[in-house]
Amino acid sequence: MNKPTDQTLEALGAIVGPRGLVTGLDLLTPWETDWRGRYTGKALAMVLPATTAEVSAVVRLCAQRGVPIVPQGGNSGMSGGATPDASGREVILSTRRMNAIEPIDPASRQVTCEAGVVLQTLHEAAEAHGLRFPLTLGGKGSATVGGLISTNAGGTQVLRHGVMRAQVLGLEAVLPDGRIFSALTPLRKDNRGFDLKQMFIGSEGTLGIVTAATLRLVPAIAERVVVWAGTASIHAARALLLNCEQALGDALEGFEVVPQGCLESVLAYLPDARPPLARPHAWNALIEVVADAGSAASLRGRVEAAMARAFDQGLVEDAVLSASEAQAEAFWTLRESISAAERARGPAMQHDISVPVERMPDFLVTVSREIEAAWPGTRAVGYGHLGDGNIHFHVGAPAGSDRAGWEAGDGKAISRQVHDAVTRCGGSISAEHGIGQLKIDELERLGDPVALHLMRAVKRALDPAELFNPGKLVTLAPETSAP
Ligand code: FAD
Ligand code: LAC
Ligand code: ZN
Repeated sequence: MNKPTDQTLEALGAIVGPRGLVTGLDLLTPWETDWRGRYTGKALAMVLPATTAEVSAVVRLCAQRGVPIVPQGGNSGMSGGATPDASGREVILSTRRMNAIEPIDPASRQVTCEAGVVLQTLHEAAEAHGLRFPLTLGGKGSATVGGLISTNAGGTQVLRHGVMRAQVLGLEAVLPDGRIFSALTPLRKDNRGFDLKQMFIGSEGTLGIVTAATLRLVPAIAERVVVWAGTASIHAARALLLNCEQALGDALEGFEVVPQGCLESVLAYLPDARPPLARPHAWNALIEVVADAGSAASLRGRVEAAMARAFDQGLVEDAVLSASEAQAEAFWTLRESISAAERARGPAMQHDISVPVERMPDFLVTVSREIEAAWPGTRAVGYGHLGDGNIHFHVGAPAGSDRAGWEAGDGKAISRQVHDAVTRCGGSISAEHGIGQLKIDELERLGDPVALHLMRAVKRALDPAELFNPGKLVTLAPETSAP
């Protein structure tokens, strides 16, 4: 007689067909490790349903047989949320084959698509209709709609358009018992109780498998100017941000910061790339300013005037405005390559933190100094979304460190020190990448007990058997004390 696992694989194959089941070692291996290469698991199989009905049938089968499911989109997540554990019991449910986009009605300024649609493909589909999906990030070539929703992703355009939650108008998800929660039709007003779709946004596949969504689109931009500005300090960069907000208002779409050390990592990583400015600056600001057709003609003049004022006030040491789309893209490539370039430099603890924007400059200066002094040989860098108070604060290991040993020992202690400092500032230890398996212990240590209790209560109500993404974000381990 077949072993129970063989019977499970056979039954899964019967639901999704031969193209929908991957068990071969070579084919499975790339999907068992996270993007940062920090976690590697061992899955029973990868199942790739082609429809919501197939997802539902797979979930019912797994529920009957007690097989845990790890949802996975593009596997570009930064917290190990899509990586199975090492048990060989879990099934990866990939949405890759669910990549249909419904015909877009430009007048509605909405798009409905399946969860496996890749962000870049969504951008292109919207552009073909003179519209734009207003969220973007460096992983756009891999990240999927389902992953973006499940992590409530941020990115580089949040300043004006908000995070993923702000883009989701409707949603469809399969529940841990296989039932389908269907709320794709967006209504401007709807007060029939809880707004249940919100539960699935940012819940990292622990409550439901997102199968489709209706998303907001905005008009395409008619003109954009991207500025690369060198500043003497992070405090000057923050003052420049305030100036830009005042001078450019709604036209300001993104304000990112890149310290010289990160720019050097990127230039070493991308041999063909060139630094935008003639000489190095302690900090660089990457500023995106856009206009619709009505205000396109005056955009460059307004940006030039804003930068001239900032220069007169001593906030900017040097700056260049993109002269073409190709140059604008080249600036963004430098910014979007930081994660890969920093990864190539060797082991590091990554902290995805936010504090109130006005406190970020002091935070970065003080905490970098404290960490580098307390842990000789480490290198602290912070880069990213200063405009919304979210910085990626990386602490690199001393040269020659053994990766696994350092991460589990000094690296862990460093992360606790960073997260304690964030908590003292009233900030968040997870601004945009989610908790996954990376920060589950830190959330337990520093999270509000009432919030943790509520999250467990929701998990218990929907997924008492912990079928969906066990060991990520929220677990049902018994609470030690009443909140
Ligand atoms: P995955 O990595 O496959 O999964 C992420 C989580 O979502 C996991 O917990 C998984 O179980 C769950 N999940 C995936 N699909 C589903 C589904 N259909 N239903 C339920 N759960 C699901 N993130 C930002 O927020 N801002 C950035 O600026 C940013 N920049 C990045 C730059 C680079 C170069 C890279 C590689 C990544 C970047 N990311 C950024 C991280 C990543 O792209 C996002 O977290 C993205 O949302 C992950 O999408 P994914 O499809 O790859 O999800
Ligand atoms: C970024 C990713 C790491 O902002 O979130 O580059
Ligand atoms: Zn980011």
